[in-house]
Amino acid sequence: MKIAILGCGSRGRTYAKIASSLPDRYEITAAADLVSERTAIVAGLADEEKIAIFGSAEELFAAGKLADVLIIGTQDAHHFGHAMTALSLGYDLLLEKPAAESLERCEELDATARSLGRRIVPGFVLRYTPFYSAVKAVVDSGRLGRIMTLRATEGVEPFHQAHSYVRGHWSKTTESSPMIVAKCSHDTDLLCWLSDSVLQNVSSVGRRDWFRSENAPPGAPPRCSDGCPAASDCLYDAHRYLTDKRPWLRMVMDSAEEADDARVTDFIKTSPWGRCVYHCDNDTVDHQEVAVEMENGITATLTMTAFDCGRTIEIHGTLGSLRGGSQFQNAGTPELWFRDHRSGEIESIPVVEPDASGYAGHGGGDFGLINALDGLLEGPQALAPGLDGLAGHRLAFIAEKSRLNKTNIKA
Ligand SMILES: NC(=O)c1ccc[n+]([C@@H]2O[C@H](COP(=O)([O-])OP(=O)(O)OC[C@H]3O[C@@H](n4cnc5c(N)ncnc54)[C@H](O)[C@@H]3O)[C@@H](O)[C@H]2O)c1
Repeated sequence: MKIAILGCGSRGRTYAKIASSLPDRYEITAAADLVSERTAIVAGLADEEKIAIFGSAEELFAAGKLADVLIIGTQDAHHFGHAMTALSLGYDLLLEKPAAESLERCEELDATARSLGRRIVPGFVLRYTPFYSAVKAVVDSGRLGRIMTLRATEGVEPFHQAHSYVRGHWSKTTESSPMIVAKCSHDTDLLCWLSDSVLQNVSSVGRRDWFRSENAPPGAPPRCSDGCPAASDCLYDAHRYLTDKRPWLRMVMDSAEEADDARVTDFIKTSPWGRCVYHCDNDTVDHQEVAVEMENGITATLTMTAFDCGRTIEIHGTLGSLRGGSQFQNAGTPELWFRDHRSGEIESIPVVEPDASGYAGHGGGDFGLINALDGLLEGPQALAPGLDGLAGHRLAFIAEKSRLNKTNIKA
């Protein structure tokens, strides 16, 4: 399968790297980015004779259809425009989530793809992790009986929240997407995928309470490098990018792997990632709850909080319940347990999860998605045309509307 990559940032490069590790199945034939250093990295992963390099999306599109599938890894606000043009050129897509910045635009992408007979695979990588594959297998086996309730939590982790949603790319909802879409459309997708039903009612509440100026330590200056009196005690001190938080730099800093301490220090002094987390211009919530009623009677809840680490899932059925999570992923493999309601016995279900440092690995989901991609687009198991994962997008956008309007919404 021939692959072109639009947007060779953190996500584009991750997918390119994985695809290049499967050379008998994938060939990277084109790459485009505004930053030549980034396309050069993708070019280095491909056969240099066969890859065409472009300095923008417009140049890539002007060259016509150069692959079977286009991976779109540009930022949220660009997805819709880039995806619509790519569909019109005849590409199938691996489109990073969220597919677009509004529900209406997601629906328009779905309708366009259907009418053109094209498939859009969203970047919902969690479905492809060993952990959620194991959860889905238990659900599909019928061992749980009729499923009544689902409970999911997503602990973003305080430093991750600060890096991505306070200082970083997704800190301002007007320029990217609301938190429940940007971060938790993964989780809303999982709720829809596991419930296998259609939304009926959605309610949500959520707030930004911690990352506000009134919570700044006394005397904290706008940047960590400006002599903050609380630096040694602060969870969010940007100087941690020099030490234990260094792996996070590769998502936001070119050639981070090769950067010496002087360059990182300069980055802390000048980039958004050196700002005091209490003095940023973020409007993203740091905790949110979603409650859902599905047409098949399942009720589900999702808790998003900056102040925990990792995801958990509980599924309660008439014959058994399943619970597990990856909250301990930094300390080992996530665990999954099945409780049989008749015998009362508890069985541990094995999950083998590969290394998932930073968000690059996603518990094996990044690899899992690329490993599944050719089968999702071609052959007997291929997806139907349209935007796969539209339901999860719908839930996330409706949840945000419910939060803003402080009302239950009939979906
Ligand atoms: N699936 C997941 O779990 C997951 C995780 C993180 C991010 N994301 C999503 O992936 C997307 C990319 O995130 P990222 O962290 O890789 O961002 P990034 O900023 O590192 O990469 C985006 C790239 O697009 C390039 N670009 C922008 N406009 C362009 C244009 N007109 N033509 C060509 N290139 C252009 C930028 O130069 C940049 O290199 C976002 O939508 C984000 O929400 C998904």
